[in-house]
Amino acid sequence: ARLPELLRRMPKAELHIHIEGSLEPELIFALAQRNGVSLPYADVESLRQAYAFTNLQSFLDIYYAGASVLIQEQDFYDMAWAYLQRAAADHVVHAELFFDPQTHTARGIAMETVVRGLHRACSDAKAQLGVDATLILCFLRHLSEEDALATLEQALPFRDLFIGVGLDSSELGHPPEKFARVFARCRELGLHLVAHAGEEGPPAYIWSALDVLNVQRIDHGVQALKDPALVQRLAQDRIPLTVCPFSNVKLCVFPDLASSNLAQLLDAGLAVTINSDDPAYFGGYLNDNFVQTFAATGLTAHHAYTLARNSFEASFVTEAQRHDWE
Ligand code: HPA
Ligand code: ZN
Repeated sequence: ARLPELLRRMPKAELHIHIEGSLEPELIFALAQRNGVSLPYADVESLRQAYAFTNLQSFLDIYYAGASVLIQEQDFYDMAWAYLQRAAADHVVHAELFFDPQTHTARGIAMETVVRGLHRACSDAKAQLGVDATLILCFLRHLSEEDALATLEQALPFRDLFIGVGLDSSELGHPPEKFARVFARCRELGLHLVAHAGEEGPPAYIWSALDVLNVQRIDHGVQALKDPALVQRLAQDRIPLTVCPFSNVKLCVFPDLASSNLAQLLDAGLAVTINSDDPAYFGGYLNDNFVQTFAATGLTAHHAYTLARNSFEASFVTEAQRHDWE
């Protein structure tokens, strides 16, 4: 079969998707109308035109503004359900969805509203789409560790509705070690641990995500190639990297897809996966990332199988579930 067809059809797991980053402009406008929220854009087209980013922060500003239309539990459900339908169409059989509770609780939305809406969409996805979907709560690293600790406390009544915690938002100036205590607490609670590191930030942030936070995966991690000792460590411990090719181009980490270092990371023996990050903002969902990245970098069918296998190996699914898929 043609390579794009193989890429589109192969079963895969998505491990790096911010559910608030799946909010399409059309749904932003529909929810704004439903909730009586006014937006500083006249229409869908002018909002989409604002999606021209120069770095991570320029994206985050507009991404947090977009999330302001999410008010009711049903809004969170509708957002996640729209993503899960697209994921099913892309032959995603397992997804681990990041969500940013602080973006909502800071606006007076209850933790319960956020978590219950997202979780109900995950439950329906299993029953109606055959997609196994779970939630990972992310702490915003531009806020304080005290804020993260308070957020964890608010989430504990819903401990069974998410499988782990992550760390996202503005990376530079907010190293992982800022969150040492809250991650230690999450570890005691038996939560899975991941963190964004080495997207724009230096290899030192990947080292401290591993050695101070004890994370099990690194989100992005593309700056690792600057440090050969780090590459060796990631290979030795088989620490997965959740790489997001469209994101890296849209946020100017790389000038174009052909400059992606995915092939070098794979050649170095790292457990690399491909993910969409914020698909509504970066120009495409998971299969678009696969097809266009392969076309631009000359990756082969052999790499496709490796990436699909890596996505399951790197996931937090149970052994029994993995056995069913392989
Ligand atoms: N990096 C950091 N924080 C984020 C991202 C990202 O790519 N997407 C949504 N929040
Ligand atoms: Zn991300």
